[in-house]
Amino acid sequence: MPRVILGFDDAEAVSRFAAREFVRRAHAAIEAAGSFRVALAGGATPRRTYELLADPSLSRQVDWEATHIFFGDERAVPPDHPDSNYRTAFEALLSKVRIPEAQIHRMEGERSDLDTAATDYEATLLEAFDLSVESGPPRFDLVMLGMGDDGHTASLFPGTRALEETRSWVVANDVPQKATRRLTLTAPVLNAARCVMFTVEGADKAAALLAVLEGPRDPRTFPSQLIAPVDGEVLWLVDRGAAARLALKPEDPSHLRSPS
Ligand code: 6PG
Repeated sequence: MPRVILGFDDAEAVSRFAAREFVRRAHAAIEAAGSFRVALAGGATPRRTYELLADPSLSRQVDWEATHIFFGDERAVPPDHPDSNYRTAFEALLSKVRIPEAQIHRMEGERSDLDTAATDYEATLLEAFDLSVESGPPRFDLVMLGMGDDGHTASLFPGTRALEETRSWVVANDVPQKATRRLTLTAPVLNAARCVMFTVEGADKAAALLAVLEGPRDPRTFPSQLIAPVDGEVLWLVDRGAAARLALKPEDPSHLRSPS
């Protein structure tokens, strides 16, 4: 599993590269298979990437008619709630581009029975990827992830049951750290992706990033260590603050891809 760690001066530079990478991978997937299937990240960090993608200079480069939007996780709130990952993506991007509504696959975090909401989202994945339960997990073209200052990703939090999941693709995970339950894709699905792109910003995440990237293997404590695509790549986009404690200096992105 190729792992690339790219270092950027600041959060804006991380978001700009992430937005261009989204466009690049959309092109490649649509050219190769006629569609682009992407799982969006939650939390605050990706909002700027979504805003940049909504700008016509980038949005016109994506064939939204051939794009299918999924979510890596969702909070137990309605879609119009300030904490909703769907709301963040909708306000910053999805309401501003011409993507067919049927191709936006929201996780229903507001449902009282989150376990059924999880199995229903699995059914959505089965249908959207034209899979059967016997077949392996859906293979996203791109999975966008963030990382918490405790090393969690999606809603795979330290010490929680979802970390052990090897069969289900989506679960409702009890997260005592936040006194709540969350819907989340599981490691088998995240690790089936062609590319997983992490965006990690801010000095408050430096200790966790050091542990995840350079520390001893301990995914129960640092769940982001679980992310190792079987036949895909991992791209870590980190700013100076988040990378401050890394012994291995992140690569300079400028030699990788020409800024467009
Ligand atoms: C969520 C996310 C979560 C997020 C990290 C980082 O729903 O909260 O999926 O995994 O990526 O908590 O969050 P920030 O970007 O807000 O720091």
